[in-house]
Amino acid sequence: MSKKVFLETVGCQMNVLDSELVAATLRKAGYQLVADPKQADVILFNTCSVRQHAEDKIYSALGQLRRHKQRHPHKIIGVLGCMAQKDQELIRQRAPHVDIICGPGQLGKLLYLLEEVERTRQPQLAVSLGRADAHRPEVERSFESYDPLREPELRTNRFQAYVRTQFGCDKFCTYCIVPSVRGPEQSRHPDEIVAEVRFLADQGCKEVTLVGQTVNSYHYRFGDGRMVRLSDLLYRLHDIPGIRRIKFITNFPRDMTDDLLQAVRDLPKVCRYLHVPAQSGCDIILRRMKRMYTVAFYRDMLARCRETIPGVAISSDFIVGFCGETEESFQRTCDLVAHAGFKNSYIFKYSPRPGTKAFELYPDDVPEEVKRRRNNDLLAIQAKVSLADHRRFIGETVEILVEGPSKWAYKLSNQTGHDARQPSDWLQLTGRTSTDHIVVFDGPKNLIGEFVQVFIEDASPYTLFGRLSSPVLADNGEKTKQGMLLEPITLLGSRGHENSAEQPNPAYEDRESSFSNGSRSLYQRRLSLPIVQDQA
Ligand code: 5AD
Ligand code: SF4
Repeated sequence: MSKKVFLETVGCQMNVLDSELVAATLRKAGYQLVADPKQADVILFNTCSVRQHAEDKIYSALGQLRRHKQRHPHKIIGVLGCMAQKDQELIRQRAPHVDIICGPGQLGKLLYLLEEVERTRQPQLAVSLGRADAHRPEVERSFESYDPLREPELRTNRFQAYVRTQFGCDKFCTYCIVPSVRGPEQSRHPDEIVAEVRFLADQGCKEVTLVGQTVNSYHYRFGDGRMVRLSDLLYRLHDIPGIRRIKFITNFPRDMTDDLLQAVRDLPKVCRYLHVPAQSGCDIILRRMKRMYTVAFYRDMLARCRETIPGVAISSDFIVGFCGETEESFQRTCDLVAHAGFKNSYIFKYSPRPGTKAFELYPDDVPEEVKRRRNNDLLAIQAKVSLADHRRFIGETVEILVEGPSKWAYKLSNQTGHDARQPSDWLQLTGRTSTDHIVVFDGPKNLIGEFVQVFIEDASPYTLFGRLSSPVLADNGEKTKQGMLLEPITLLGSRGHENSAEQPNPAYEDRESSFSNGSRSLYQRRLSLPIVQDQA
């Protein structure tokens, strides 16, 4: 009988990708993925260290497993990813029942570690070198590349995939733990990336999102001095048949070069959407954060993006309550958000991270309630801006890639027991425009994974609401117009929509991050991989 594994993922898109790859490796080795940790022989957490809250959640989950492990000593518990690299042996001090500690640069060893625990019943630790432990090439080598073959069943959608362009980060923003736990920035060989995207396209993938901590600083230098930049890579990926959309996240403001903006402008498959975190609207704070740009530079960069790429949508990240942030500094951030026209912003309360420069140099001097208030104030400003941005679409027809049932439809089907199994069943669906705007509309389930035209009728700060305006496929494969052959099943109240969008709730204090938009939030969501019920 195959061994069962439970894998829970916290954190950014890089972790989502790592978990997909870990799951694929384990499945190939005969493991079956299960949804309930209590049923599993192996319980794994792929972890995040960006904010304290993400770590607390994992330590609490580990605490809850202590008794379970006592009753089932042969079960293996593993901590993977950033927390493993950051805390190392400390994890075993706090949770002695953990068997495996495996950093993000060591995931290729996971199978071996599992075998070793089974063979020796001894805890196993695999972590990379610290940035100061050795010369750079040695540290780089200790963060091993991990990009095994992809399995479409392990993604939320087989038609969308993340693709890694580089590991690590060299920016060393003073608040950020990533350069320590993910190591030096190393760009992947472009041929490898192109081959992976071709492979994904052959598997039916239509949209790829290139991911890197600072994706736009991607550069691969060949031995003869030739260099491949992100813009060059986009040109190569653009030629791959089957791929209809290419996105890339996350961008560093200073590396937003003209060649990249021109590539986005000139390549129709490249989405006109740029996520370029500003972090603060105050020069004093930006300097303390060591972001290496001023607010004026950032504003010029935005203007350049908009001039070069008509219709581009831009989103940002902000940290509120960073050390030394006065009311005046915060007001400057509010001013930037009020006038920059971001599609949405991800807003975080500063969380001091041991091991960072800010932790060493500056006291965490903004009280929690002030952080919370600033967080809510900034969210409210961004919500107004987002609403104005969304309302522009009313009366327009947009093309979207249908991603699946909306959250509201999921909830409803759980409550009513309605199971939209028939491909022609209508339900509330959600998808995104190429500018990353979320669109909710009613349609048949067999549109999931298709590109459709939707006429936008209404908007909230987070969501566009519309109706199908393109012909849709009937059950028998015939093309039909909405409402002619396929009657919508009444799943929705007239304006159930407001509840359907994946809205953040600023009042929900327990979130460690707040989103001014976005179901597929980039950060700090807690998710389990789609559970693949093996037939075997
Ligand atoms: N505290 C709060 N937010 C942080 N981020 C990174 N480090 C911290 C921290 N110590 C945020 C930044 C970054 C996003 C991934 O997380 O806004 O862009
Ligand atoms: Fe962290 Fe700054 Fe690197 Fe982003 S660019 S991962 S915020 S150090």
